[in-house]
Amino acid sequence: MTEQKLKIAARNVNVFYGAKQAINDVSIDISTGVVTAFIGPSGCGKSTFLRTLNRMNDTIAGCRVEGQIALDGQDIYASGMDVVELRARVGMVFQKPNPFPKSIYENVAYGPRIHGLAGNKADMDAIVEKSLRRAGLWDEVKDRLAESGTALSGGQQQRLCIARAIAVSPEVILMDEPCSALDPIATARIEELIDDLKERYAIVIVTHSMQQAARVSQRTAFFHLGTVVEYGVTEDIFTNPREERTKDYITGRYG
Ligand SMILES: Nc1ncnc2c1ncn2[C@@H]1O[C@H](COP(=O)(O)OP(=O)(O)OP(=O)(O)O)[C@@H](O)[C@H]1O
Ligand SMILES: [Mg+2]
Repeated sequence: MTEQKLKIAARNVNVFYGAKQAINDVSIDISTGVVTAFIGPSGCGKSTFLRTLNRMNDTIAGCRVEGQIALDGQDIYASGMDVVELRARVGMVFQKPNPFPKSIYENVAYGPRIHGLAGNKADMDAIVEKSLRRAGLWDEVKDRLAESGTALSGGQQQRLCIARAIAVSPEVILMDEPCSALDPIATARIEELIDDLKERYAIVIVTHSMQQAARVSQRTAFFHLGTVVEYGVTEDIFTNPREERTKDYITGRYG
């Protein structure tokens, strides 16, 4: 049994793009040892809310976040917060695999180098190997570490991006539709990986696949029109939703 521990507490979060409100009063707990799925129709605010959790919205002009988001009890929007460090603690994997146009090795070594995590070449080699192993990619790439990350297959690139996120020892990994560009076999590998990773990290995954949410997550939040309609144990959400709107969505009546 994986131990569960509260990692992120989001309270009464509102997000605006200019005058338009995209997230309305969302409160959610995210725990280590748990995979939390965000589901809901296109445009309901899943990516917007996900980005509040490591302040990626800071990079979008006109975007404003209100409310409290605490990481281990510490307000991540406090003025003294080091955003670079925050994004190492709360890593992100995107929909489209986006390896740097550098070698496989450098893709993984980049973050640890910036954060000064390796004292010497041997330390760095160890971090790169460990991260690639944990991402389930080591055996496929160990003899071609100097090749470009962009030369890998889509599924391999996505695992490389996961290795890159893991390399800086994050506490939380945010994944925004990480499998939507992958075939079923590559998707199954990423899902297995997510299951392994949840032992040590808090994982949040946005997905349009109900099957995927049901397979990989233990908690599910159903977003609709910028609000969280229902949040709870995944099995309950899928077998016995409390809200009519949740039921309609998971049974495919709209979305
Ligand atoms: N950079 C932006 N500038 C202005 N409005 C935005 C921006 N990004 C998102 N929005 C708006 O915020 C709302 C929520 O969008 P968001 O991308 O969070 O939805 P989503 O649930 O992730 O959708 P999808 O499932 O299609 O990825 C939408 O109305 C969208 O148009
Ligand atoms: Mg999105």
